[in-house]
Amino acid sequence: MLASQGITSAQSALRELPIGLFDSGVGGMTVLRAMRGILPNESFLYLGDTARSPYGPKSVETVQEYALEAAAELLRRGIKMLVIACNTATAAALEKIRDTFPQIETIGVIEPGAEAACRATHTGRIAVIATHGTIRGRAYEQAILRRMPQAELFPVPCPLFVAMAEDGLVEGPLATGIAARYLDPVFRIPREQGLETPDTLVLACTHFPLLQSAIAEVAGPGVTLVDSATNTARAVKKILREKHLDRGSGPSAGIPLCPGSTRFLTTDDTDRFTRLGELFLGMTLAPCTVELVKI
Ligand code: DGL
Repeated sequence: MLASQGITSAQSALRELPIGLFDSGVGGMTVLRAMRGILPNESFLYLGDTARSPYGPKSVETVQEYALEAAAELLRRGIKMLVIACNTATAAALEKIRDTFPQIETIGVIEPGAEAACRATHTGRIAVIATHGTIRGRAYEQAILRRMPQAELFPVPCPLFVAMAEDGLVEGPLATGIAARYLDPVFRIPREQGLETPDTLVLACTHFPLLQSAIAEVAGPGVTLVDSATNTARAVKKILREKHLDRGSGPSAGIPLCPGSTRFLTTDDTDRFTRLGELFLGMTLAPCTVELVKI
C-alpha cells in the first residue's frame, strides 16, 4: 500500500492497463477519438465486432450474447475499465455485463448522452435518432426522463445512417435526402404547420457523428446536436480518478506512452476495419496495431 495516497499495489498495477472499448464495428471509434483527446495519458484496447455487425436490427438476446463475448475477450486480455462504445449494445446489455463481470467498472454511452441532451435543451423537447435496437430498448427515453421528467421525447429510428457512414455517403443531396425522409416528420413538417419542434437532437448511435452536417442541415437552424462521446470520455476520467486508476496521476504521469498505445481487435477483415477505422478515428492506423480475433 502506498499509504500516503491510500493506493494498493494492485491498483498501481491495474493503472497501467489499457481502457477497453467495444462496438459492433467501427462506430465506437468516435468515442475512442474523444477519449484519446480527454485522456492523453491512457492506453486503449478497442474491439470492433465487424464479423457480426450491425447489431442494430438484431434481437436483444443476440446483442447480449455478442456483447458478453466482446467484453469477455477484452477482460481476458487485461483492461482496467470497460466502455461499451455502442448505443445498441449499451441498451441491450449494460446490466448483463455488469452482473456477469462485477470485477470491472463498466459504463455505456447512454447515460452520458442523456446527460448531454438535458444540459443542451431549453424547451425539454428532445429528438433521439438511433438504430432500431436502441429506439426499441427505450433506454435513452428512460435516462432523459429520469433527469428531466417534463421532457418530451421524439424517438426516430434511422437505420440507413449506419451503412451510409460506413460507405462515406455523409453529405450531398443523397445524404440530405435520406436524412429528410427520416427527420422531416419531426422538424420541417410540424414547423411549417406552426407547431413546436425539438430544440435538441441526440445522435444516439456512434456512427451518426459522421453525418452531422447533413443531419444539422435537415433539422434546421436552432437545433443543437449532441452525441455521447465527449461526455462518456469525461465520465471515464472521473471514475478512473475516483478509483485511483488514472495513469495521469500516478508515478507514470508524464511518461510518454509508447507508439501503439491504442491497439485494435477486429473479428473480421483487418483491411476493411483499418480503412473504415481511419475514417471514423481521423488518424492513420498502423497495420501492426490491428489484430484479427475470433470470439
Ligand atoms: N454502433 C452502433 C450503435 O451505436 C450502431 C451500428 C450497429 O447497428 O451495429 O448503436
